[in-house]
Amino acid sequence: MSKVSSSEYKRWRSATRLVRGGTQRSGFDETSEGIFMTSGYVYDSAESAEAAFKGESARYIYSRYANPTVTMFEERLALLEGAEYCVGTSSGMAAVFASLLSQLKAGERVVASRALFGSCHYIIQDMLPNFGINVQFVDGTDLVQWEAALATPTKAVFLETPSNPTLDIIDLRKVAKLAHASGARLIVDNVFATPILQHPLDFGADIVMYSATKHIDGQGRALGGAILTNDAEFIDDCLTPYMRHTGPAMSPMNAWILLKGLETLKIRVDHHVRSAIIIADFLSDHEGIERVLYPGLDNHPQHKLAKSQMEEGGTMVTFELIGGKEAAFKFLNALEIVDISNNLGDAKSLITHPATTTHQRLSEEDRAHLSISDGMVRLSVGLEDCEDLLEDLDQALKVMRCG
Ligand SMILES: Cc1ncc(COP(=O)(O)O)c(C=O)c1O
Repeated sequence: MSKVSSSEYKRWRSATRLVRGGTQRSGFDETSEGIFMTSGYVYDSAESAEAAFKGESARYIYSRYANPTVTMFEERLALLEGAEYCVGTSSGMAAVFASLLSQLKAGERVVASRALFGSCHYIIQDMLPNFGINVQFVDGTDLVQWEAALATPTKAVFLETPSNPTLDIIDLRKVAKLAHASGARLIVDNVFATPILQHPLDFGADIVMYSATKHIDGQGRALGGAILTNDAEFIDDCLTPYMRHTGPAMSPMNAWILLKGLETLKIRVDHHVRSAIIIADFLSDHEGIERVLYPGLDNHPQHKLAKSQMEEGGTMVTFELIGGKEAAFKFLNALEIVDISNNLGDAKSLITHPATTTHQRLSEEDRAHLSISDGMVRLSVGLEDCEDLLEDLDQALKVMRCG
């Protein structure tokens, strides 16, 4: 865990922060950040070990608590997010679980938006009640439902915007106000938006979390996660003891890979977005497609809200094919460049059929409620030449329609 202290870093613009923020050179003056593959640290005396364990000296004790390479990753991401604190975790799901379980007790209450990544939905719907935590889901785009649910005192509110896979946009400012009035901290899963395109803390969120496995790595190599906040009480009383004693720490090797990912994050996200806009436009006029969901398109139901809280419409395009599951599978199987994969935010364009993969665990009724149809596919736009992607999508749509 690290607290950003360098006022110099804070003067820099985001692209500079992403390349240089948090760097701590060792005595060897290396250009690229060091990988400190060490689980423990040594003390020059028994007295200094005692002082470290009493918290009287600030130093590394054990890599389950903190590690220099992980600290560099945390400081760099904190600088980008504009957060005081960042805690790296072993995966995005470890970040989701820690952000909830580190602060919740039996008898307390969580309100969450229904449109969540499958494993987030599982934790909230199936696991939290096992710990005696009460849970209520709402339709995230319906403020009346938020208002009704948050009329009862609540400890935590969890949401994802844009949501996976339907790319619904939730009003962060309004939900933050309602959450605070009910006594809750607002936790935002900002994976789809990326730390480049949306800063939930600016709109009143208390905690932001990432799967760093996605855009932050961006090259399909390493799992990781992160929790960011300005809430010192949450860090000191909840998250730090939880991380120390339950052990979902980020590995130094993964921290190094993700640190390198951060260096190119802005350039990559800008490229993903440019191509996503072109692809969303292209698909909107295409035969065989029922509808395209992309927050950057004028016809997206929350386009205005998206513009007010995101810098761009994002890197993901969801669309519904006419002909249900059969058409969707035919289309996916005909793609020559785009890979079928449930991952996202990668250099390679990846496509998935949510109803049979990421959201297959949901009941048919829940999927219908979330408008996840059998013809829906979710495209994570990669870094390939956009013309090649358009040609690939076009030929696969032709195969789908003509056999
Ligand atoms: C929105 C969202 N949140 C959280 C996660 C979990 O991240 P990880 O796979 O790194 O555990 C994912 C993974 O797909 C995701 O899409």
